[in-house]
Amino acid sequence: MKMALLCLCLICVWLCLCPFSFSADAIAEPFDVRRHLSTVTRYDVSTSNLLSSSSSAPPIPNACQPIHLNLVARHGTRSPTKKRIKELDMLATRLASLLQQATDNSSIPAWIPGWQSPWKGRLKGGELITLGEEELYSLALRVRHRFPQIFTKDYHPDLYPIKATQVPRAAASAVAFGTGLFSGKGTLGPGQHRAFSVVSESRASDILLRFYDTCATYKGYRESHEPQVDKLKEPVLEEITSALISRHGLNFKRQDVASLWFLCKQEASLLDITNQACGLFNETETHLLEWTDDLEVFLLKGYGKSINYWMGVPLLQDIFQTMQEAIRANEENQPGGMYERARLRFAHAETIVPFSCLLGLFLEGDDYEKIQRSESLDLPPRPPQDRNWRGSSIAPFAGNNMLVLYQCHDEQKGQNSSYHVQVLHNEVPISLPACGTDFCPFEVFKERVVLPLLKHEFNSICDAKSVVRDVEAPKPCSWSCKFSNFLGGIFSSAQPQQEKSEL
Ligand SMILES: *[C@@H]1O[C@H](CO)[C@@H](O)[C@H](O)[C@H]1NC(C)=O
Ligand SMILES: *[C@@H]1O[C@H](CO)[C@@H](O)[C@H](O)[C@H]1NC(C)=O
Ligand SMILES: *[C@@H]1O[C@H](CO)[C@@H](O)[C@H](O)[C@H]1NC(C)=O
Repeated sequence: MKMALLCLCLICVWLCLCPFSFSADAIAEPFDVRRHLSTVTRYDVSTSNLLSSSSSAPPIPNACQPIHLNLVARHGTRSPTKKRIKELDMLATRLASLLQQATDNSSIPAWIPGWQSPWKGRLKGGELITLGEEELYSLALRVRHRFPQIFTKDYHPDLYPIKATQVPRAAASAVAFGTGLFSGKGTLGPGQHRAFSVVSESRASDILLRFYDTCATYKGYRESHEPQVDKLKEPVLEEITSALISRHGLNFKRQDVASLWFLCKQEASLLDITNQACGLFNETETHLLEWTDDLEVFLLKGYGKSINYWMGVPLLQDIFQTMQEAIRANEENQPGGMYERARLRFAHAETIVPFSCLLGLFLEGDDYEKIQRSESLDLPPRPPQDRNWRGSSIAPFAGNNMLVLYQCHDEQKGQNSSYHVQVLHNEVPISLPACGTDFCPFEVFKERVVLPLLKHEFNSICDAKSVVRDVEAPKPCSWSCKFSNFLGGIFSSAQPQQEKSEL
């Protein structure tokens, strides 16, 4: 034990001494399937090697203080949705019948005979589970510790507004975060908790956090392209299906393998079981399955089509406005300091992924220039080629982007304050391609990131008619077209909103 500890310490010292000579992949980590689950990856697993290693970003200058924080976070780890629970129940039946047909059971994995879904017969799903509560709670503690200047004020809903989508797991995530953020600051119970409010827009009109469900153009695009995405996945599933048939002597179909991969993700992420469904796939196959999931995220939520992220412009605009307000309030030095310090938002992968695209994150090579020239991007390359586009790091459970506004004084020159924006992805500073740095002067952020996007006006790009028009260049609206927008608005908000399958 002592020996092991000593070795560990030596490794630590060695890692600390040579932070630049060894990149993360030069130290061959043992393969851990839990890191390869695309958007079903848990936050602690996704970030374990990022949070522990100190960032390579240069430190923030001493003369700069954080004055405002915007958070956009995904809900934490949740249980499978009702629809998926049914799929797993059907898988159990299917596995039993495959077993019966088997002629030789010598290579059948031991867990398969008699297997039942851990969520068997459950009629409700999709809720935040304990692991998910802990993700958001501890994220809040880290954020408070990292930015003490922002969280010194007594709680007031206008100083620290907390917003969630009108979906229980997102609202529960907001509560878990708030519980951590304000723990020890109230009078309730031994944890000295305090009450705080979480506000939600109606599902039917939430264009800030649920734009994917309020943008008709996007919904049309998504629906018409889902079959195309399935086609792209098919060859990989086909390959793996035949490999599994010969490996285990069970006559799997493509759909069985898709369900088994889904089961693997749930078992590994929620239950830490990696030797059952996940054990069916070797490392190569796991990388391929992860890639098919990432392709789907790319095409239906990411850079695959500009509408996917342009519809998120109202959120970016909201964030930009909070920064402008914070700067104004700060300059005016309002008495009592009763102005907003942080705006905290809790939503879905469908929110986080497009928002990351608006910031230009996770692009390859000269992709940023291609976007500037309105050229389409290549798909994320197939393994074994490496790629930046990974659901497991872009939007794991509780995945988040923070935009921190800093005020900097240059006392020697006696000049006015300057302001900077720092972007943190999953708590690690990340460089904005538009800015070339992760500590972006506010004016540059405004001119290069925000203003060019504001021309994509939500109501015009999301008008259902854009489905037939070229999405890339929406035409200006005439009066009659505005009128039909208005009608479209009435009809779409009058529709009962069914439980959607947001991630
Ligand atoms: C194969 O499975 C069947 C049905 O479960 C069982 O009756 C039989 O004993 C098994 N054969 C071997 C060789 O394990
Ligand atoms: C995994 O299985 C595939 C067949 O699907 C095979 O081609 C490949 O060599 C295997 N990879 C490893 C690392 O075992
Ligand atoms: C400082 O700010 C004031 C008021 O906004 C402005 O009039 C002045 O020109 C600024 N000074 C410098 C050096 O930028």
